[in-house]
Amino acid sequence: MAEKIEPDVVWSPTDKQALAFSSTADALLYGGSVGGGKTDFAVALPLEYICHAKFNCLVLRQTCPELQPLVTRARRLYPQADPGLRMRDASGSLRVEFASGARVLFSHANRSYDGDEFDLVIIDEASSFSYDYYTYILSRLRTTIPGFSPRIVLTAMPKGPGCTWIEKEFIRQGPYRVRKEVFRDPTTGIESTRRIQYIPARIEDNPYLFQNDPGYLGRLWLQGSRMYNRLRMGDWSEPDGSFFQDLSRSRHMVPPCRPPLGAPTWAAMDWGYSSPYSIGWYYEHDGAIVRHAEAYGGPDHLRNEGARRSISEVAKIIRDKETAFGAPQYRVGDPSIWQVNDGGLSIGDQFAQVGIYWERAVNDRITGWLEVLSRLQLGRFFVAENCRAFWATVPVLGPDKRCPEDLDTRQIDHVADEVRYSLMTRQLSQYGVPAVNVSNKLAGLPCITT
Ligand SMILES: Nc1ncnc2c1ncn2[C@@H]1O[C@H](COP(=O)(O)OP(=O)(O)O)[C@@H](O)[C@H]1O
Ligand SMILES: [Mg+2]
Repeated sequence: MAEKIEPDVVWSPTDKQALAFSSTADALLYGGSVGGGKTDFAVALPLEYICHAKFNCLVLRQTCPELQPLVTRARRLYPQADPGLRMRDASGSLRVEFASGARVLFSHANRSYDGDEFDLVIIDEASSFSYDYYTYILSRLRTTIPGFSPRIVLTAMPKGPGCTWIEKEFIRQGPYRVRKEVFRDPTTGIESTRRIQYIPARIEDNPYLFQNDPGYLGRLWLQGSRMYNRLRMGDWSEPDGSFFQDLSRSRHMVPPCRPPLGAPTWAAMDWGYSSPYSIGWYYEHDGAIVRHAEAYGGPDHLRNEGARRSISEVAKIIRDKETAFGAPQYRVGDPSIWQVNDGGLSIGDQFAQVGIYWERAVNDRITGWLEVLSRLQLGRFFVAENCRAFWATVPVLGPDKRCPEDLDTRQIDHVADEVRYSLMTRQLSQYGVPAVNVSNKLAGLPCITT
């Protein structure tokens, strides 16, 4: 491990920051709420290792504008630690080279790091990143410094599209405890262990802010109690910034159920091979639509990676499902399954060859989302609790910042797209809006026990 500088020569950590400095976890999450000194910690941490000539560190934010506060703090702090350093701006990024040869790069996610290697990666506000990006950047983490253990250090608060994976990877295990994850290389059989830790910090752990500006808490409160609980108290239990703001488990989740006799039934699909496919089965009852079953083609719900199943394999999955609760009256598939290159059979045609027929779904995104949002708001769309891919991926989807009427399509949006295709087949405007008693939403829904 590199020799440490005395942090209090140039910057004095708070008690919580000092605790995070002393952590040796391979993956560390610091913070978990607003104002705990996360960004200061992210900027100061690399100074701990700059005596080491080969040390190479990446400090990341999602975008270049978001990076600038870190660059400003580094410009102020770093020359105090090493007057002999050199700093170089490169289109919003900052490269710092210390007299020892150690390097720190402040940069953003809008460029490639293929071919780079870092001994330490720090991501400030990691909840704005996807799990895919997290695993990509982990692949850039490797060291040739003898005795050095490469590390990733994140800061985050419960806001943004990455809340789900951060909650699962770091928060759920509880604070301070070190969780061990053992990996056995299938080629060599060599085992390695990753130690994962979460060190929480709130505003009261940061006297610089808490004592100097108590009015900050009042300003946070103005954002509403839900947001206050998230940002101030570090409550990660309900996702935030969701595109489907009205969607909640308490209001829209129903126990496992099956279509009642005589109910209209249908299926919808968003096809994927290298990215996940999503198939949902629906019925309508008493003016409400219920998504009662699903099939999802991905290794987990965290990454945008497909199961790479052939059409005949997916057709078998569909048939097996429909054996349990009956074939639907119709099915709609995303329009891309009808695309044909070089005169071959389309995906839709290939499904038809094995007896699974899809109609072309309406793909007007903005109208489709409005339909989903309206149904959620009116309490006229429900999803069974056994639809795990839905509950894992849809509530956490965020809007496109440039077009808030649409979803940010870089997310894991396959289930949401499939729901949109489905609900567009029974638009509210075509059917009128009969009142539905939300508190009696389960009345008449035949429940099955699992
Ligand atoms: N150890 C410290 N010494 C002096 N000021 C600090 C320290 N830690 C945090 N601060 C200041 O407190 C304020 C909030 O800290 P910041 O790191 O931005 O919090 P967060 O990123 O968790 O919201 C900032 O003005 C920051 O400079
Ligand atoms: Mg910050």
